[in-house]
Amino acid sequence: MSVEGAHAGSSPVLEVRNLVKEYQVRGQGGVSRGIVQAVSDVSFQIESGESFGIVGETGSGKSSLASSILQMPRPGSGEVLFQGTDLVRLRGRELTRARRQIQMIFQDPFGSLDPTWRVASIVAEPLAAARSGTTAQRQRRVAEVLELVGLDPARFAARRPRELSGGQCQRVAIARALTLSPALIICDEAVSSLDVLIQAQVLKLFERLRAELGLSYMFIAHDLAVVEQASSRLGVLYLGKMCEIGASETIFADPLHPYTWALMSSVPVPDPAAPRPRVGAAMSRETPSPMAPPSGCRFRTRCPRATALCGEREPPMRAMAPGHSVACHYPLDPAARAELRADAAVPWVDADVKPGRTLQT
Ligand SMILES: Nc1ncnc2c1ncn2[C@@H]1O[C@H](COP(=O)(O)OP(=O)(O)O)[C@@H](O)[C@H]1O
Ligand code: SF4
Ligand SMILES: [Mg+2]
Repeated sequence: MSVEGAHAGSSPVLEVRNLVKEYQVRGQGGVSRGIVQAVSDVSFQIESGESFGIVGETGSGKSSLASSILQMPRPGSGEVLFQGTDLVRLRGRELTRARRQIQMIFQDPFGSLDPTWRVASIVAEPLAAARSGTTAQRQRRVAEVLELVGLDPARFAARRPRELSGGQCQRVAIARALTLSPALIICDEAVSSLDVLIQAQVLKLFERLRAELGLSYMFIAHDLAVVEQASSRLGVLYLGKMCEIGASETIFADPLHPYTWALMSSVPVPDPAAPRPRVGAAMSRETPSPMAPPSGCRFRTRCPRATALCGEREPPMRAMAPGHSVACHYPLDPAARAELRADAAVPWVDADVKPGRTLQT
């Protein structure tokens, strides 16, 4: 999306520190079957005006991270500093007020809109809930945000969701998210269900809104092409752990973590007629259960470089270059990447998959 460094000198809009979210899983009769470690000691920050991507396979904890940031439900521990205030410590009205500044957009454009409501009421709903403005002021704001997302209010305000296409529905969801002028929008697979052409249009819309309104995004996706296009920096999640954080360009070109390398290598040269590449599509070994993650490094059961140390000690996140951090005892260098590419015995990368990527949508 934007050029890395465009936000130099800006302050973080969001700072997540050591966030933990676990779910108690119960079987019949309420008997505890164990604890899912969905988000484990995750830390990162999003600068004001930047789009930060979160990428990871299904079940890696992306949605749990998003809901924990919003305190819905609350995380087990950690801090969520939004514009300097820790949301974990806020209660009642203060939390509600702070939450209005963070809006979510979900994957399913139809499912996220009430089918019985008209577009104008859907978009005005956050204003009504916040008891903000008069009816006339709300109508003006609805028209304003519909125009911002490229929907003519005269044509669309009175329609119901079933009278809209998938792309138009997602534009309505974006308009609704904008009504209260939020500082941060969390997009959880927001373009995943749209076809490629519409997806490209909606991604362009997100970028235009970021540039025009100074918005910040946390852009969650399991589609690498989307995350690369939508985010200037990104974090890679594996089994609830952050593996690598850095500028998108750098991470795609020079991944340091073996898992990141495997993800990047699983993106084939695109064929517009072929199904979109998915994270981990080329990985053949099963992900361990989040109820019993491996000791030490959680990726060690799938990692071709694992040693005894990887099972004994968890690798801490450490900076390898300005703005580029990795949690691995043996980060990759160019020689190690070449070795991995040449190693036909690497079991978790499909032989047909071309290393590197040439992405274009
Ligand atoms: N409410 C819940 N109760 C129990 N386990 C959950 C709940 N929500 C998510 N999980 C589990 O937490 C892990 C992370 O899930 P999720 O955050 O949805 O991942 P992602 O969004 O990356 O697919 C998964 O193992 C999932 O099954
Ligand atoms: S710490 Fe060890 S097991 Fe984990 S990714 Fe690095 S080399 Fe592989
Ligand atoms: Mg999810």
